[in-house]
Formats: sequence, C-alpha cells, structure tokens
Amino acid sequence: MCFKDSIISTISPCQRVVVELGIGDGRLLEKVVRDRKSTQTCYVGIEIDAKQIQIAHERLREKNVSLVNESFEKVISCFPDNYVDEFIFVLPPPEYIDKSMGSQWSSFYREIFKKMKENGSLTMVTEIINNLLEPVTNREFKIWKNWLMSKFTSLGFIIKETHDGSPSYFSSRYLEQFRGDTSRIKMVTLILLKPYSISS
Ligand SMILES: C[S@@+](CC[C@H](N)C(=O)[O-])C[C@H]1O[C@@H](n2cnc3c(N)ncnc32)[C@H](O)[C@@H]1O
Repeated sequence: MCFKDSIISTISPCQRVVVELGIGDGRLLEKVVRDRKSTQTCYVGIEIDAKQIQIAHERLREKNVSLVNESFEKVISCFPDNYVDEFIFVLPPPEYIDKSMGSQWSSFYREIFKKMKENGSLTMVTEIINNLLEPVTNREFKIWKNWLMSKFTSLGFIIKETHDGSPSYFSSRYLEQFRGDTSRIKMVTLILLKPYSISS
C-alpha cells in the first residue's frame, strides 16, 4: 500500500479530521486529543524531524492518532480536496510565515485552503521578533498583525478570531520558551475559516 493510500484508509472512517502541522514532540497534540476525548475524530500529526516524532510516538498511542514523519507538502498532497475539518499550526518555521518569504509560502496556504472543508478552520499561532532583539513596540505589532490578516484574507480565508498571545490551554515546547520573553517575542493567534462556497 502506498503512503497516500495508507494514511487515507486509516483516517477515512472518522467523522472529523484534525491535522497538526509541525507537532515537534507532540505535547500539544497529546493535550488536544486527551481534552477532546472524541473517538469519532482522527488526528494526524506531521513532523519532519525523526527524533521529535519518536518522542511524540511515545506520548500518543491512541488508535485514532496517526503520526507521519514526512514533509507537510507531501502529506497534505495526499488528502482529497475539502477533506480536513481543522488544521492547527503552532509557531510555523520562518519559511512558512515570514513576511520576507511571503511569495514562497502563499502557495502552501492555498493548498491548505483547498484541503479544508467548507467552514473548516486553520488555527495558527505565530510570533514577531524585533530584528535587533529589542522589545517589539505596539506599533510594530499592530502593523504586523494587520499585514498577516490581509495576507490570509487575500488567500481566501475569513478571519474568525484574532487574539494577542497564544491560547492559554495550548502547550508546546516552543510556546513555553516564547512565553518567557513576552516583550521581545510577541505572539498572535489567528482562527481562519474557509467560507462556504456561493453555490452551497
Ligand atoms: C518552530 S517548531 C514548532 C514546533 C511545535 N509546534 C512547538 O510549538 O513546539 C517547527 C516544527 O516544524 C517542523 N518542520 C519544519 N519544516 C517542516 C516540514 N516541511 N514538514 C514537516 N515538519 C516541518 C520542525 O521540525 C519543527 O519541529
């Protein structure tokens, strides 16, 4: 069975599909799975770093959780269009979010958008760090947030919610580090939706 068939056959019996991108050591996915207690939901965690995913495997042994040691692009291309209920992306690497690399990552989020069900969501937590490692000013933070929102809107997403900081019930290795330096590392949470198409 090829990689694509194996992942789809594992998750196809589930009513909901939740995908976390870049799970690291799996701390957040473990919390989401345990808090929601939904056996009708399949969770997919994608992580390219073999050592990190090994740690995640030790945390997450539930039958409805699939952990994949592959690139985002390869795994996402396996999903049919309009398939995923929820993507979670906490602290994307720079090549998936930095302003200077926007032209590089736009197509990645277009692909995510295509794979989302209508009214499906992408919850993203990302951060701004001052280039000189000085405190991020309120003005810098506001300009950056507005840029982020307009960028995702231009890709077709609807902004459902934005919050300064990260959700308190989220926990991950990098979130804990970043929460220790809130003046120099400012985070924002975006909850983005794929709108219903006009015909439906
Ligand atoms: C900044 S870390 C955040 C990890 C975790 N979400 C956290 O908050 O602790 C980004 C993660 O994405 C993974 N990653 C980077 N590029 C990737 C790719 N193309 N495909 C899959 N995982 C990738 C890295 O190995 C790393 O674990």
